[in-house]
Order: sequence, then structure tokens, then C-alpha cells
Amino acid sequence: MNKLDVINLLVPHPVQPRAVEEQFAPSNIALCKYWGKRDRELNLPVNASLSVSLKSLGSRTRLSPIDGLADEVWLNGERQRPETMFASRVSAFIDLFRQHSSFSLKVETHNNIPTAAGLASSASGFAALALALNECLDLQLNPQQLSVVARLGSGSACRSVFDGFVEWRMGQREDGMDSHGIPLDQQWPDLCIGLIKVDASTKAVDSRAGMQRTLETAHLYQSWPLQAATDLSRLQQAIETQDFALLGECAEQNALSMHATMIASWPPLLYWQPDSITAMRQVWQLRQEGLPVYFTMDAGPNLKLLFEASAREVLLEQFPGMEIVQPFCA
Ligand code: PMV
Repeated sequence: MNKLDVINLLVPHPVQPRAVEEQFAPSNIALCKYWGKRDRELNLPVNASLSVSLKSLGSRTRLSPIDGLADEVWLNGERQRPETMFASRVSAFIDLFRQHSSFSLKVETHNNIPTAAGLASSASGFAALALALNECLDLQLNPQQLSVVARLGSGSACRSVFDGFVEWRMGQREDGMDSHGIPLDQQWPDLCIGLIKVDASTKAVDSRAGMQRTLETAHLYQSWPLQAATDLSRLQQAIETQDFALLGECAEQNALSMHATMIASWPPLLYWQPDSITAMRQVWQLRQEGLPVYFTMDAGPNLKLLFEASAREVLLEQFPGMEIVQPFCA
């Protein structure tokens, strides 16, 4: 089964583009990480994951039909050459919908994720593109189907189709139709996420390559699916009971366990930089002094702090310039 087969199941007829309003999708931070694929073509995960969406931080995408043979791809107001990674991934994604009709699109994407925070934008980018294609091509897909489509662009994008807490059920089916995001009902108005920039430059090994290397070479990876399943159910319990210490502990331990599998792969993958470790120690020290603050990290050197609104001022003193998002507050 490949991506074209999946799109054919969802959209078996020719489509006609029309100019529509831009669509927004938020970035998301995983509290229980997606790490490892059981199907690399369809981005089907080895484990279920759980994230929180970053409300108004994310990607806006506008699509409009144009004459000509090639798409025109713009990012943050700058035209991207077709051979760039960004433009080629966007056009390859649109190709999935050009199986029965030919058309070209102008794609205008704006990311408002602070570039300084070093956050990945592929999750919100592919989610916004999936939402925009749904409107532009009048696909009439429901949110779960849109989550499936976004996953074909980038795994974690399937969670960015929704706001708030989102679980990505791993699913069992070969076509992946049961592997998509599900929004959770619970809110957590006090929950804050602090974005700490250690280094915002492009990393040498992206998450796609990193998770494959880990899966193929780290013996430690064998214990990851069980760890992730345990963390996921504890996180669900923490969210259900609004137990912040449990939420923070699970998220931090889950992130460190994922990094342990990276470090144990060959050649080793260490995304941390000296400043990442300094920030981790600072968090541990603050916790020892009684401040409930935890961190999570993705395939990069930057930390995302987890805390409640009451710790905001102290943490801003400790980490000046930290960008804070309160995902459940207006
Ligand atoms: O969706 P990808 O291929 O960029 O992978 C994301 C992987 C992590 O960010 C490390 C974890 C996650 O669940 O977001």
C-alpha cells in the first residue's frame, strides 16, 4: 500500500481547484513521543503518542489555482525555488491529489512559530496544507480523514489537525485508516509551555532519519514500545485527574527515554548541546527547590518547559526571553 492508494480510497474522483480562504493549523508538542515507524511509506507509528497543540502558534496556508505546469510555492513571503526541500515536499504532497486531473497551485504558507524557538514546523505545515487542500479541492473529508492525510506528509502532523490534547492512536490496519489523531475532551487552563531556544539552526539528522537509525541499530529501542504505552496511560490519567506532577514526570521521563534510544543507536545520535544540559540541570535544581517545572525535548537541542501559570514569573527570571504559550487560554 502506498500514499497514492490511500488518497485513492479517500478521493477516488477527479478534483477541480478553486480559490479559498487560508487555513490555519497549530504546532504541537508531544508529551508521549512518536518514535519509530512500522510503515515508512505511510508514516504508521510503532507506538501511540499524545500531544498538546500550541493554540495560535503554527502555519497558515492559502491555495489558489494558477495557469502553468508547475506549482508556485511561497514561504513567509518568499518564493521558494522548486528544487528546495520545502517546495519539493509541498508539490510532492499535492501530486497525491493530481492522479485523475492536472492543475497547478500557488501555495502561500506563513509560519508564526518564533524562529528563535527552534520548533519544527513540518507538523503544522502539513496539517495546514491538508486542511487547505480539503477546501480548495472541495474534498469534504472529515477531521479524522484529514488527520490521515496530514500523516502522509509528516507523522506528527496528524495531531496538528486538532486543538488541545490530542492522542494519536497507532491503529492496526495496513492502509492506516485507523491511525489518526483524536482530540481529548479535557482542558487545562493553567498549563503553560515555555519554549527555550538553545540552537535554532537546521539539525544534521532530521527526525525521519533519526528514528529509522534508532529502530535499526539501538538494542535499547526494544523497550521503547512498552515504555511509551505505560507513559501514555499515565499521561491520560494525569490529564483526567489534573495531576500536574504526574503529567510533568511522565512527559520528562518519556522524552529522556526516547533520547536514551537515540544515544544508544549507531552512529550515535546526540541532539543535546552543552546549553541543553545546563538548562536541564537548571530545571532539576528548581524542582529540588520546590518549583514544579518539567521539560520535554524532541529531535533537537531545544527544551520545552512544562509548568503551571503560578510558576510563570519565577521561570521568566530564570530563563529570560522564554516564549510562553498557554494552550487552553483565550
Ligand atoms: O513527524 P516527524 O517525522 O517530524 O517526527 C516527530 C518526532 C518527534 O518530534 C521527535 C516526536 C513527536 O511525537 O512529535
